[in-house]
Amino acid sequence: MKKYLITGCAGFIGSNFVHYMLKKYPEILLVNLDKLTYAGNPQNIAGLPQSQVELVQGDICDAALLERIVPGHDSIVHFAAESHNDNSIANPEPFITTNVEGTFHLLEAARKHDVRFHHISTDEVYGDLALDDPCKFTESTPYKPSSPYSASKAASDQLVRAWVRTYGLRATISNCSNNYGPKQHPEKLIPKIVSNALAGKEIPIYGDGKNVRDWLYVLDHCKAIDLIFHRGRSGETYNVGGHNERPNIFIVKTIIEQLHDRLKDDGISEELIKHVADRLGHDRRYGIDPTKIKNDLGWYPETPFEKGIVLTIDWYLDHEEWMEHITSGNYQKYYEEMYKNK
Ligand code: NAD
Ligand code: DAU
Repeated sequence: MKKYLITGCAGFIGSNFVHYMLKKYPEILLVNLDKLTYAGNPQNIAGLPQSQVELVQGDICDAALLERIVPGHDSIVHFAAESHNDNSIANPEPFITTNVEGTFHLLEAARKHDVRFHHISTDEVYGDLALDDPCKFTESTPYKPSSPYSASKAASDQLVRAWVRTYGLRATISNCSNNYGPKQHPEKLIPKIVSNALAGKEIPIYGDGKNVRDWLYVLDHCKAIDLIFHRGRSGETYNVGGHNERPNIFIVKTIIEQLHDRLKDDGISEELIKHVADRLGHDRRYGIDPTKIKNDLGWYPETPFEKGIVLTIDWYLDHEEWMEHITSGNYQKYYEEMYKNK
């Protein structure tokens, strides 16, 4: 049976990936490693089959822990990171520690024990595009990160490349655009809009709201990662994107309209939108060219935005308790249930 180490499994994309993998490959074994920071929610990975899944609460910066748990794995799929730009602007240090040093420690463990490595990265490493720029980010676009978060991710990508070239580590990298879907922390734009609208709170839009992101449904990202780490060529980078560039203001208005129509609540209206001070160094536009992954591995974004956003809103409406727990930080109950015997 194949055995995979998944870091950051209790976060947004990691937890979606764990569920996707167990459904697609009923025979695999997973060791889920997560520090359970404020962003890691054990509720996201509750109820998984204990015969197949081992949960380890721990830090990717803990080299001694990695030395104990990494041997014997076929692959490491590395999601764990500090992931929120706003936090990185307020306090960059944990971003350097986890995203750079943590990736370094994982690479060392993978090298020592000859474990295949897949690194999950972001389109933000390429910097930003002008709204009218005809070009998009390809795998050969030079790195030009803007925020402490994106700089830390760029640094971690470069470490992976160095370990491939210098030590012959078997590794791949994927640089993906903005994900949306179930289980995303409401610090991020889409769940924040839903959460604030449901609570009748103002929805803060940074600057003029014309910044563009290329939105991809999280399940499509999971499928891309699965393809890359099983069939991608070692040393290669693959850009993953949704062919779905939208201004922030469009996203906000779409969600408000859907919630209003579904809940028949006149309190959910564009009146809730509040333009606030812009994010420092705010990237104007991201746009991914995913031609390489399409040509090499046959991947394309399957979920149209119109469908993905309905699935996403449905999920948040069906999981108001989840939202309440994550916003209050009160998931101790799940933590105790899952880790009491560890
Ligand atoms: P997230 O913030 O929801 O989850 C991150 C997870 O990592 C959490 O469970 C957290 O507890 C864990 N973690 C943090 N520090 C850790 C440490 N030192 N040791 C062990 N675990 C630790 O993040 P996400 O949105 O799911 O992003 C996952 C990965 O995908 C990140 O590497 C991010 O850079 C990348 N990415 C995200 C997006 C997106 O739109 N969300 C897009 C492209 C790439
Ligand atoms: O592009 C991939 C990246 O997408 C990932 O690497 C990051 O981990 C992920 O957080 C995301 O980064 P962004 O900064 O683009 O995501 P965020 O949801 O924070 O913001 C999306 C856009 O919405 C951005 O232009 C800022 C704006 N925004 C965000 C928030 C939270 C607002 O206008 N108001 C808000 O309250």
